[in-house]
Amino acid sequence: MKGSALSALGRRTAPPPISWLMQAALSRPQLISLAAGFTDNATLPVEISRKVLNHVLRSPQTGRPALQYGITTGETNLRQLTARHLQKHDAADATSRSHFWEQVMITGGSQQLLYMTLEALCDEGDFVLVEDPTYFVFLSILQSRGLRARSVRLERDGLDLAHLETVLQRLKKSGELRRVKALYLISYFHNPTGVTTSFGKKRGIVKLLKKFERTAGHPIYLIEDAAYRELRFKGPDIKSALMVPGATERVIYAGTYSKPYAPGARVGFGLLPEPLFTTVQRIKGNHDFGTANLLQQLIAGALKTGLYDRHVAKIEKRYGQKAQVMKQALAEHFPTNVEIWEAGGGLYFWSRLPKHISTGVKSKVFHAALKNDVLYVPGELCYADDPARKKPDHEMRISFGSASEENIREGIKRLGAVLRKFL
Ligand SMILES: Cc1ncc(COP(=O)(O)O)c(C=O)c1O
Repeated sequence: MKGSALSALGRRTAPPPISWLMQAALSRPQLISLAAGFTDNATLPVEISRKVLNHVLRSPQTGRPALQYGITTGETNLRQLTARHLQKHDAADATSRSHFWEQVMITGGSQQLLYMTLEALCDEGDFVLVEDPTYFVFLSILQSRGLRARSVRLERDGLDLAHLETVLQRLKKSGELRRVKALYLISYFHNPTGVTTSFGKKRGIVKLLKKFERTAGHPIYLIEDAAYRELRFKGPDIKSALMVPGATERVIYAGTYSKPYAPGARVGFGLLPEPLFTTVQRIKGNHDFGTANLLQQLIAGALKTGLYDRHVAKIEKRYGQKAQVMKQALAEHFPTNVEIWEAGGGLYFWSRLPKHISTGVKSKVFHAALKNDVLYVPGELCYADDPARKKPDHEMRISFGSASEENIREGIKRLGAVLRKFL
């Protein structure tokens, strides 16, 4: 049959760029993947989870609520624990308006929150500002929903504020500012570059968004994605944008228990100002009317008993160690004209080759790497379509998250040998 029953969104949605990378990893068991954004398998909290779940399921009285549907916004207990958890990170006053537990929504990973937030804010053709580069799954949501991205240059301490102003100014001049709904910022150990945004820059971003929203005629939100915040092994914690004076009504904070605890439990959370909280709550009512209760109880139990904090302290050390192994291997095996952005947390290092060497999926470097059984994420996948610049394609995201120390050493050695042939 010629006609398609698919919706415009269904027809438009492109295959995820990462799916075939994952496929390549699965179909070649000898391949070392430095591409996956998976967490460290060996440290997943099996014992802790068993202990907490045993406690939850110790009797019908305690077990049944966990095995029943819950409420759309999440279990009150976990919402309160989450608010307290975030207050602690931000060194916020317990009465701080920016951290009210009533603003916390528990979601199926932070991914669901990001998706629902865009559903709540954006119509087809609207603009979202993103860091250049950014998280490729976020770009896939934009593509699927028919939204337009405008990219803002990234510096080693976060967004280039002068460039943000230029981008906003350009949109104002073209009369398109009213279509700008949000800026998406991965503020801690950014995926893919490892960059952390300074608090000063967060303040600067809020100020600029507020300045331009007067012309836009509506709020322009800052979506702060803090997915990697708790995987910090170097440097101090930086306060979230919620702590910028006057920002409470404009910041959507997306957090997750996936990276620090267990991606398999897939519990995330958001702090949302009104009217977004109510709108996203209604949308979530249509998505799933509540995140799995048993998983929420698991996270709540781990938080309440202090087992969660102990676990995070342990994995921070582990990631620090693995990052160090990667750093040493890079120093030993990579050509010296490859620039490395080393992260103080998260799962990734960013590697920049001279501009004339392509690392894209069709490049010789990528194919040679695959032939030598090592996989990385080509940087080009992390760049939005933006008419203002050509997509860079000379970079690589390399992860120390899931590979063992031995495989990190061997993977970097293989990749280094490939690069030496081209440089
Ligand atoms: C930047 C960023 N945000 C959000 C997510 C989604 O994480 P989750 O849905 O497991 O909370 C990821 C996952 O890799 C990510 O890298």
